[in-house]
This record gives sequence, structure tokens and C-alpha cells, in this order.
Amino acid sequence: MPLDILVGTQWGDEGKGRITDLLAAQSDIVARYGGGDNAGHTVTVGDQIFKLHLIPSGILHPHTLCILGNGMVVNPALLVEEIDHLASLGVDVSPQRLLLSGSTHLITPAHLALDGAEEAARGGDKIGTTRRGIGPAYADKAARRGIRAFDMLSLEQFGEQVEDQVARVGELLTKIYHIDPPDPKKAAQAYQTYAERLRPYVAETSAFISQKLEQGQVILAEGAQGTLLDLDHGTYPFVTSSHPVAPGALLGLGIGAKHLRRVIGVAKAFQTRVGEGPFPTELHDTISEHLRGTGQKPWDEFGTTTGRPRRCGWLDSVLLRYAVRVNGLTELAITKLDILSGLNFPHIAVAYLRDGQEYQDLPHGPSDLSGFTPIYKKLRGWESDLWEVKAWDQLPKQAQDYVLQIEELISLPVQIISVGPEREQVIRRRGM
Ligand code: IMP
Repeated sequence: MPLDILVGTQWGDEGKGRITDLLAAQSDIVARYGGGDNAGHTVTVGDQIFKLHLIPSGILHPHTLCILGNGMVVNPALLVEEIDHLASLGVDVSPQRLLLSGSTHLITPAHLALDGAEEAARGGDKIGTTRRGIGPAYADKAARRGIRAFDMLSLEQFGEQVEDQVARVGELLTKIYHIDPPDPKKAAQAYQTYAERLRPYVAETSAFISQKLEQGQVILAEGAQGTLLDLDHGTYPFVTSSHPVAPGALLGLGIGAKHLRRVIGVAKAFQTRVGEGPFPTELHDTISEHLRGTGQKPWDEFGTTTGRPRRCGWLDSVLLRYAVRVNGLTELAITKLDILSGLNFPHIAVAYLRDGQEYQDLPHGPSDLSGFTPIYKKLRGWESDLWEVKAWDQLPKQAQDYVLQIEELISLPVQIISVGPEREQVIRRRGM
């Protein structure tokens, strides 16, 4: 009855979709537990590139069942679109393979409009949200006035709920933000159409997952975003409104803690961030350009959801140690090691310096990262391309040293290393 949790250890975009895809091969169920379509996963299978926002990438394995958990916020319009998109590419996305928790809160056009209006009103203090309505939808959930997937089961009432909600937020939009609100009646009609499509997928997934765990099935809980974007444990206020950390999986799926087996953290071999907020190891030079790429390749560092260029910098082991602790990681997966090929001296931040004092860990948690200067360890680089590397002993010695250095800095094994976008471009260590 094992539950494995996969979490991002940085600011999201660690390449979790890749690792989920890999682990899904050994799982019966892949379940997402937080966030919404602010996430974006790109998975390459052969010459097909799948861009997913809501549905776990486990759907690309014919044997897995996928779940959208109660901790998520789902925009029904986009879920319908994603189901149709996958179906057009030949993927079976029937209700036998995909379940939507009835307790999942729904994003409405009013949430989208409010997200944009609030961001614009923040001016220079903006968070840099994805403007997908995520924050306002979670705010309605916490204020106990949200609309849930279960509500779609009663069409007429659902239409009224959507109309009321859009009208209520509409007043705010007009009076406070002075913008044209979405039309409540149109929204209600559209949402009733989505409800008709999505109703067969709605289920009581907490009980379903518990039953499957008792039967011995393997559940993979797939995190979205990353530890440093967690509402409580991230770089607040520059965070998302959900709980990407591992405990978020228990809440966001309705599972008890006794089932936990592995907690796999995913870290990019360097550091990226999209949106505003502190980033101690950020670079603004040719190295950051090297790390980011030009945007022409699907794996270049441009947002899957917004297309925004990501900020890039060196790997930060101070933040990584923090992620190890708050998630209770049992192991690490490193992605995009291949991108470091050709860099002379890849750096890793090993500690911070502030006012002459050295810090191995964050003295005030991640909310206050100001004034810290990273202390770097410079490693030897490697020239060769890693794309053909299939096993640990085929890696150049310097690349091995880079990985071993990370293991030493975080006192945790690195079990999986990805060296390219394809399913096969992965090195597994110690028989994982
Ligand atoms: P929101 O989740 O759209 O409210 O955005 C809040 C912050 O989280 C912004 O800085 C976003 O750029 C960031 N964010 C949200 N989702 C992701 C993601 O999947 N990857 C990276 N950053 C994200």
C-alpha cells in the first residue's frame, strides 16, 4: 500500500513531468494534489510533444489511472480543452482513466478577471502571477463560498451558482477596479456545457485512493509548482496560493500519512524562477543566457503556461537543504544536467554571507532572502554532450563530481538524473 510523493524543490519548472512520466511506469495511479493550470508539463514521447497543464503526465502510460485531487483548483473550460487535445493525439482520456475529485474547487471567468485586476493594481509590487485565476479561486475556497466539482452534478443549481459568483465579483471589478466584468449569464451557460462534459469524471476520490492503497496499488502523488512557491513555506508573498510541499499531497488527496513510502524531490541542475521575488543565485550574463536557451527548443527556459523567459542562476544548495527538510525527502532526482555541458566552472551555492556572518541554512526561513550573498563552490566543467549517456559510468568524471557534490551538500542520494528530453535519456542509480 505505498504512496510515493514527487515534489518540486525549487520555484517550479524543475522538470517534474519528466520524472512523473518515468515513475508512472511503475505506478497504478498518478494523482495531482495542488495548483491548477498555472502549472505546465512538457513531455516528449518519440516525435510527439505533449504540453499538459492539468492532467497528470501519467495519462501517457496506458495502464495508469489519473486523478485531479481536491487540493487543486480547476478551470473546467481548460480541462475540457485538455481532454479533447489528448484524445485528438490518440490518448484514452475516458472516465475509466481520469477522475476529478468532487471537492475540487472550480475557477470561473470572474476569478480570471480578478487575478488580472489585482495584479495590475499591485503596480510595482506585483507577484507576477500566471493570471489563471488561481489566487482568487483559493481565496473563495478559504472564504467558504467556492464552487466545487460536485456542484456540477446538479446542472440548474450549478448555473445559478456560477451566475451569482460572476455577478458578485463583477461588482468588485466595476466598483473597485473599474474594469468591464464578464457576463454572468454567458458564463453560467458556458459552465453548464462544461459540466455536462465533465460530470462523468466527478468522483469521491479520497475514498477511492484509500481503497486502492489497501488493495496494494502504488499511488504516485504528483506535485505542481515547487517548495519555494508554497503558500506557507515558500518565499511569501511571492508564492502561489496552494501547498506544493509533500504534506500538501496528503491534504490535497485526502490520504492518511501511514501509506507514505518515498518522497522524491526534483531539482534542476541549476536554478530558475518565473515571476517576481528574491533569487540569491540569479545571473544576468552570458551564463544565464546559456542556461535559458533562445526559446527555440521546447526545453528552453521559457514558461510553458505564459511563455515568459525564466530568470536563471546557479544551483543553490542552501535552498535545496531547506527543501529536503520541509518535504522530508528520501531522495533526489536531478534534471537537465546536460545543459551544464560546455560551462567552464559550474558553481553551486554552498552557504550565504550576510553582514560578515556565514549561514549554512536560512536564519529566517525563505521569506527573507534579502541581503544574502551566496558563497560558491566552483566545480570543474565538462565539454561533452550528455545526450547519449545511458549509465552513471558513462558520465564524464566532472559531471559525476557535480552530482556527488550535491549529494554531499544535502546528505541525500541522487537516484535519477535526466540528460535530455526523451524518455530514455535518464540515468537511474542504485537499481531505482
Ligand atoms: P499564481 O500561481 O498564478 O498565482 O502565481 C504565483 C507565483 O507562482 C508567480 O510567481 C508564478 O510565476 C509562480 N508560478 C505558479 N505556477 C508556476 C509553475 O508551474 N511554475 C513556475 N512558477 C509558477
